[in-house]
Amino acid sequence: MSTSPAARIGDLRRAIEQHLYNYHVIDQPTITDAEYDQLFNELVALEAAHPQLVTADSPTQRVGAKPLDQFDEVTHRVPMLSLGNAFAEDDVRGFDRRCREGLGIGADALIEYACEPKFDGLAISLTYENGHFVQGATRGDGSVGEDVTLNLRTIKSIPLKIDTSAARLEVRGEVLMQRRDFDALNARQAAKGEKTFVNPRNAAAGSLRQLDPRLTAERPLSFFAYGLGAVEAVELPATHSACMDWLANLRFPATRDRAVVSGLEGLLSYFARLGEMRARLPFDIDGVVYKVNSLSQQQALGFVSRAPRFAIAHKFPAEEASTELLGIDVQVGRTGAITPVARLRPVFVGGTTVSNATLHNEDEVRRKDLKIGDTVVVRRAGDVIPEVAAVIAAKRPADAREWLMPTRCPECDSAIIRLEGESVARCTGGLFCPAQRKQALLHFAQRRAMNIEGLGEKLVDQVVDQGLVRTAADLYRLGLMQLASLERMGEKSAQNLLDGISNSRATTLPRFVYGLGIRHVGEATAKDLARHFGKIDAIMGASIEQLLEVNDVGPVVAQSIRRFFDEPHNREVVEQLRACGVHWTESEPSASTIVRGAFAGKTVVLTGTLPTLSREEAKERLEAAGAKVAGSVSKKTDYVIAGGEAGSKLDKAQELGIAVLDEESFLRLLDE
Ligand code: IVH
Repeated sequence: MSTSPAARIGDLRRAIEQHLYNYHVIDQPTITDAEYDQLFNELVALEAAHPQLVTADSPTQRVGAKPLDQFDEVTHRVPMLSLGNAFAEDDVRGFDRRCREGLGIGADALIEYACEPKFDGLAISLTYENGHFVQGATRGDGSVGEDVTLNLRTIKSIPLKIDTSAARLEVRGEVLMQRRDFDALNARQAAKGEKTFVNPRNAAAGSLRQLDPRLTAERPLSFFAYGLGAVEAVELPATHSACMDWLANLRFPATRDRAVVSGLEGLLSYFARLGEMRARLPFDIDGVVYKVNSLSQQQALGFVSRAPRFAIAHKFPAEEASTELLGIDVQVGRTGAITPVARLRPVFVGGTTVSNATLHNEDEVRRKDLKIGDTVVVRRAGDVIPEVAAVIAAKRPADAREWLMPTRCPECDSAIIRLEGESVARCTGGLFCPAQRKQALLHFAQRRAMNIEGLGEKLVDQVVDQGLVRTAADLYRLGLMQLASLERMGEKSAQNLLDGISNSRATTLPRFVYGLGIRHVGEATAKDLARHFGKIDAIMGASIEQLLEVNDVGPVVAQSIRRFFDEPHNREVVEQLRACGVHWTESEPSASTIVRGAFAGKTVVLTGTLPTLSREEAKERLEAAGAKVAGSVSKKTDYVIAGGEAGSKLDKAQELGIAVLDEESFLRLLDE
């Protein structure tokens, strides 16, 4: 059976509008983007082949072809009013009292209210005639706005056609940009080197006021209905909430977070509930709106000047405020990351007084074009760290000063560097830098590095905070009395910790190098470095070229190592550690010599518990001496090193007549 082009076009339009509704209004898409594109492209092709069948409300006609010279004026049939504001509970109490008085309702009876979020976007009015979207306008001064019909047609959640018998219907609501869309838009703007928007509201306003609708179409705008304007030839329901349900049925986007409540208590608990949800909503709201629900009661209450008596906006604390940028400091994080921080003239925003705000990184300061002395917009949304959203360029004083990233760390005076391709600058102080000290000490002490038993986060916090330890070398100078005086630390546990520290003195070169916490030098690289250079002095003195000869060491790693050892503080710490008795066996560089000694090229099996060495340590020493450590005993095994409670492996060795060593003779052979 073949359908006519007209019928197929009709089917496609209905299907496409349904999918737009599913996706943009109720957030429940039922097909993939590719499937949607296929339907849309089929419609485009059919309309191209049959231009006489193209209609204004076809989904292909949402984006206009040419820019306007200017926006026409639109006089609103019913003025677009503003709302009175309530900031404190008392203001809301006053509102409820005035409504009750106006309606002659006693203190014992409760008014029914409709509650809604107060969307932080732009008010617009959509006019439908006989079900067709014919005009859309901004609020303007409330009486006369601008005709932005072509731009509003690009918003996919606004229906071009609705199923109603109303001869004329004006739907009022808010155009906004959802936070996710805003972030993506700003990321695109930044990538293109173009100016980013301060907040979703400004982005929405800028997008809606484009003279070229093709530009608006590229901006992801949303619409939410919140009321009605002029309505002709249709019977409306009796309450605001029922009108909203009716609009939702006509497929207008209406938020699900509306509620009908009773009396003052109902209003306040709605306010608290939305306040709690605020940060999690997909778009910005700046408060909630309370409306007397009954339309006849609304009419009875009427208006004062340009605001209704029957409705009020209960505002949340503002999330943005402007203030002066007094200076820019840098903060050093536990990994050495340097973050510029704005010092601000204290300003009340988001419910607290803010005097510092993060600037993220150096590029962000450039991108925002911040100069010291500027007036800036500070934003504090929810529990998020306050940030500088933008500079108010018009208010820049003549003596505004440029900011430069410091070259030395404010905490330890080590060089600050920024590796190519990274957005973050870092302090090279590592073990020496107080800001990085705790992190560096924990890294140094960890099992895979120096393996200091008993030195965990809580203790590191304490010894650093009490000023007992500055560098890793200080650990080896701690005394029993000092440790015993720490919180929750008896003499017994202090002694245990001292033993743990003392035992860690005997280590291996790879563990030591890894423990230094050089950026980009993990365990594997540390092993490669140790094997290649054999000695710590050789590693410390290696040039970039020499470092690049090491397995798996590329330019980024080589630079990072070179920079670490170029810092005198870091070389000093290595010297001090050696002076404190930290030691390991050094070897000749692997590239030029063959490992010699009793274990070179031999296969060795470890079994049982050795008196002083852990299994891991014994294994490392053997490997450093050129041995292969195997898991089971066979005829190919050269030595078995056995400790306490050795089991079947020892039996097998004896059975096969393989040499068995205890720890002492193993260490002696190793030294020879
Ligand atoms: S009702 C007659 N409901 O707030 C009352 N307005 O200050 C007309 N707004 O220009 C407004 N969310 O842009 C109403 N749920 C909501 C709203 C809302 C945001 C805006 C609207 C209006 C302004 C009034």
